[in-house]
This record gives sequence, C-alpha cells and structure tokens, in this order.
Amino acid sequence: MTLFKLAPALLLALLVGLAGCSQPSDTPAAAPGPLRFERASADPVKHGERLSQVLGCSGCHGDDLTGQDWSDAMGTLWTANLTQSAAKFSHDDLAAMITTGKWPGRALMDMPSFLYTGPAPADVDALVAYLKSLPPSGAVHPEPSMSEEFRAMQARGEWMDSPTRVAAMSDKGPPDLGEAHAFGHFIIRATCVECHGMDLAGGKEAMEDEGNPPPDLRIVGSYSAEGFAALMRTGTAAGGREVGLMSKVARRRYANFTDAEVAAVRAYLVELANRDL
Ligand code: HEC
Ligand code: HEC
Repeated sequence: MTLFKLAPALLLALLVGLAGCSQPSDTPAAAPGPLRFERASADPVKHGERLSQVLGCSGCHGDDLTGQDWSDAMGTLWTANLTQSAAKFSHDDLAAMITTGKWPGRALMDMPSFLYTGPAPADVDALVAYLKSLPPSGAVHPEPSMSEEFRAMQARGEWMDSPTRVAAMSDKGPPDLGEAHAFGHFIIRATCVECHGMDLAGGKEAMEDEGNPPPDLRIVGSYSAEGFAALMRTGTAAGGREVGLMSKVARRRYANFTDAEVAAVRAYLVELANRDL
C-alpha cells in the first residue's frame, strides 16, 4: 500500500507521529491496536534505553549488557553479550529474538520472550535501536550446550525453551479488567508477572535466597497512591520497610516508569483487589 491510498486523517496521524510531537495524552483512550509504553522521549534510542531498564534486560544480561555466565551442572549457558549481538544481527532478527525467542536457526534458552509479546512493534523497534546504539564490547560467548540430563528433562516437558514458552503463554495473563485498565494490565503483563505470576497471586518460595516470597499483588489495594509511588520510585515499601529483592527491582527498573505508568499499574491492582477476582 502506498501513502497515497491512506485516508487523509490517517496520513496526518502518521506525519504527526513521524515528527515525534504527538502527545500520549492527545490520543484517545480506546485507540485500537497494540499498546505501548509512554513515550517519555521522542528519541527512539532514549525510549529504548528506558524500556530496557523497565523490562529488566540488564538483570540477566549484566549492567553493561555484555552477558553473564549461567553455566552449571545442567550445561553451558551464557546470557548473550547484547552489544555484540546488536552488531552481528539485523534489526528484524533482533526484534524477532526478543519477541519470539527464535534465533535464526535455533530456539533461545531461558530468554523470557513470553514477557515481551505485548509491546507494540514501535516499542520493540526502540529497544533494538538502543541495542544498536551501543558500541560492541567484551567477548562473544559460546552458544548453549546442555547436558543429557537436561535434554531428557526438556523432552519430558519439564522445561520449555523460549519459543515453546511464548506459545504456551500467548493466551495467558492477569485478569482482563476492561478498557479502562488495559494500560495497567499491559505493563504488568510485561513486567510484574515475571515474579508475581500470571495470576498475580505470588509464590511460595523466596527468590534468589532473599527476603520473603513475592506476595499476592492484591496487597496493593491497601497502598495509598503516594505509598505505591514511593515503592516504585525508591524501593521503600509501606511503613518505611526495605523489602529485599523487590526494593532492588524497583530501584533498578520501576524508578524509570513515568508517573502515568505508575498510576496505571496501581489503578489496575486496586481494581483487582476490589473486585476480589
Ligand atoms: C531472565 C533473564 C533474561 C532477561 C530478563 C532477558 N534476557 Fe535476553 N537472553 C537471556 C538468555 C539466557 C539468553 C541466551 C539464550 C541462548 O543463547 O539460547 C538471552 C538471549 C538474548 C538475545 C539473543 C542474542 C544472541 O546473540 O543470541 C537477545 C537479542 C536478547 N536476549 C535480548 C534481550 C532484551 C532486549 C531483554 C530485555 C527486554 C532481555 N533479553 C531480557 C536471558 C534474559
Ligand atoms: C524480580 C522479581 C520481582 C518483580 C519483577 C516484581 N516483584 Fe514485587 N516483589 C518481589 C518479591 C521477592 C517481593 C517480596 C519482598 C520481601 O518482602 O522480601 C515483592 C513484593 C512486592 C510488594 C509488597 C511490598 C510489601 O508491602 O511488603 C508489592 C506491592 C510489589 N512487590 C509490587 C510489584 C509490582 C507492582 C511489580 C511490577 C511493576 C513487581 N512487584 C515486580 C519480586 C518481584
């Protein structure tokens, strides 16, 4: 389709979008199509950098994104050196790896692509633009090589590679609370479910040997707007408490939320608690 065939109103919207001056608040709340994070910066590289923080890429790929060694008795596995991957792969291949877990020619292991299926292509493009802005540095790590025992586990379905997990989780997410809470639902599906679970009911075991297990997020029903913003921005929970892994995750990741994103996440969770779903 050429630009000439587009309706004038859509063409105008496109041009405004390209000029980078459309304000999120100007777009109708019920805008159709995939959701995106708030565009705090019109510069795709800066937007992508913020998304990489919110989505926690450095938690696994390392602070400088040059990769970490996760090898153990189960086999050799490195989280990739993303500065080198960005130089090696095309934009489209990188976008596909992030959202589908498929590497050209093989399945990725333990890359949580199932979390990243929601964001609109424009957000994924910004993430890739950010990765491609990084100068390649550090070593290229070996590809995974897993033990017999691990492959047997995988064959029994006790462990899923990234594309299999994407497929298994594609129709799963926290309860849908309707259009008014679609933005909060979208953010939570891409971030909080990683630890608090798809149903947001939390877990039974402490994570990374630290603090308490992640609780049911309906707990946010008892948080004031200020208290919740303080947890997201500073990692300090209600009553001035330091809450282990959550405090760290908030400081690293959620301190980069915009005010509108914090408000949308809280509004969704308060509504979830009120509806008693
Ligand atoms: C829970 C840990 C974890 C998180 C969070 C994570 N990754 Fe990964 N990622 C991995 C692992 C492990 C691999 C290596 C998998 C393999 O080689 O089979 C990987 C591989 C990749 C690859 C493939 C690169 C290559 O050269 O093979 C890309 C691209 C990638 N991740 C991007 C991202 C981005 C962007 C984010 C944040 C939006 C992110 N990852 C978040 C664990 C993670
Ligand atoms: C990397 C894992 C992880 C992610 C991601 C995560 N959390 Fe948590 N969260 C935890 C853990 C673990 C705890 C329990 C901390 C403790 O008490 O030691 C927790 C506790 C909490 C609490 C309870 C604080 C209190 O009052 O005790 C709230 C509220 C919370 N998380 C909200 C969120 C929200 C909202 C998100 C997404 C924006 C999120 N969490 C993402 C791991 C995580």
